[in-house]
Amino acid sequence: MFSKHRADFPTLNVDNPPIYLDNACMTLRPNSVIEAIRSYYEESPGCGGRSVHRYATTVSRKMMSCRKKMGELFNAEQSDEIVFTKNATHSLNQVAKGLSWNKGDVVLTTDREHNSNLVPWLQLEQEQGIDHRVVRSNQDNTFNIEAFEEACANAGKNLKMVSLSHVGNLDGVATPVKQAAKIAKDHGALVCIDGAQSTPHMKVDVQDLGIDFMAFSIHKMMGPSGMGGLWGKMELLENMRSIQSGGSTVDTSHYDSMQWSKPPARFEGGLGNYAGILGTNAAIDYISKIDLNQVHEHEVSLNRVMTSILKDVDGMSIIGPQDPALRGGICSILLDNIDAHDIAILLDEAADVMVRSGMHCVHSWFNDKGINRGSLRASAYLYNTEDEVKLFAETLVEAVEALG
Ligand SMILES: Cc1ncc(COP(=O)(O)O)c(C=O)c1O
Repeated sequence: MFSKHRADFPTLNVDNPPIYLDNACMTLRPNSVIEAIRSYYEESPGCGGRSVHRYATTVSRKMMSCRKKMGELFNAEQSDEIVFTKNATHSLNQVAKGLSWNKGDVVLTTDREHNSNLVPWLQLEQEQGIDHRVVRSNQDNTFNIEAFEEACANAGKNLKMVSLSHVGNLDGVATPVKQAAKIAKDHGALVCIDGAQSTPHMKVDVQDLGIDFMAFSIHKMMGPSGMGGLWGKMELLENMRSIQSGGSTVDTSHYDSMQWSKPPARFEGGLGNYAGILGTNAAIDYISKIDLNQVHEHEVSLNRVMTSILKDVDGMSIIGPQDPALRGGICSILLDNIDAHDIAILLDEAADVMVRSGMHCVHSWFNDKGINRGSLRASAYLYNTEDEVKLFAETLVEAVEALG
C-alpha cells in the first residue's frame, strides 16, 4: 500500500536495504526532511523570531508556517497553542513542572507509562507532595475503564490531573482517550496525553478528544531528532510557568522585574533548533499528505503476519493482547531463556534486521511483574513490507530454536 514511499527514504533506497523495525523509537526520515535541514544551513542559517535580515526572516516565516501546519494536523484551535520543544519528554516536563500543585493533589497515570510520563510525576510527589496514583490495566494490558473511573471517584475533589499515554510503547495498546477524558473532566481534572506513539500512526484531533495538553515526538513522525512539541489549550498555556527562562520568554525586562511573553514564545527560551524546525516543517508536509488511517491498517496487517508466526512458539510470548488489531504496529516479545539484547545484535548482524531490546523506558511495568530481562520489540511503520516482517519473525524463531 505504501511501497511507493520507500523511494523517499535514502536508507531504504539502496541495494539490499536493512529491515528497520525500530520505529517506535525513531522513524526514518524522507529526503524532503533531510533537504530542508541542509537548506537551512546552506541557504538561510539565521535566527528565527529575532533578527530582521533575510536569513532570519526566511526562518521566521517557515517557523510560523510549521506551527500553523502542526496546529492544523492536530486540529488545534489556534497555531499559537503549539510549542516547539526538544522532545515529548521536554513537553511532559513542561506540563508537570509548569502547573501549580498543592500537597495532596492527585495525579493519575496508568501502569504502562513511559518514564517520561511517570518520572516527572514521581519527582513532583517527592518534591511537592502531590499524590501520584497508578491505575492498573486489565490482565491483557488493555485500559481498565472501570478501574479508571473508580480511581477518579476515589480521588474526589483532590483529583487534579490525568496523564495517559495515547498508545503505549511497551505493547502498542491504545487508551480510549476520548472516553477517559470525559470521565476525568466530569471529575474536574485536567487531561494530558502522551501522544508520542499515537501522532505518527493515527489521526489525532485534540479538540475531539476533549483533552487539555498533548506531548509528541517529531523524531517518531519522520522529522529530525531533537524535536518535539507540546499542544495545550491557550487559556491553560497562558497561566502556565515556563520551566526555562531567558531570551524570548519575556517581552521586556528591567533590573528588578520582567514581563513574560505570551505562549508559545514564553516556553521557547533561548536560540531554537531552527534546522530542526525547518526539518519538522517538511516532516509535517510529508505526514499530512498520508492517510493515517491507512497507515494504522497497514501496520496492523504487518503485525498479523508477525503474530501468526510468533504466537505459538515455545520459549517466547507476546506482551499485551494476543489480537494484533489491538497492538498497532508493535510486537513486543518476552524471551524465556535468551537475552533480548543478544538476539537484537544477532538479528542485526546476521539478517540486517534492526529491532529494539530492553525495557523501552517502561521499567516500572517490568519491575512490577518481576521480569528483569526486558523484551524484544519490533515496531513497523508505513514503509515496512510483509516480506520484511516475515523475515524478521522467521529469523527470530530460528534463533530461539537454535539458542533456547
Ligand atoms: C510513549 C512514549 N512517551 C514518551 C516518549 C519519550 O519521547 P521523546 O524521546 O520524544 O522524549 C517515548 C519515546 O519512546 C514514548 O514511546
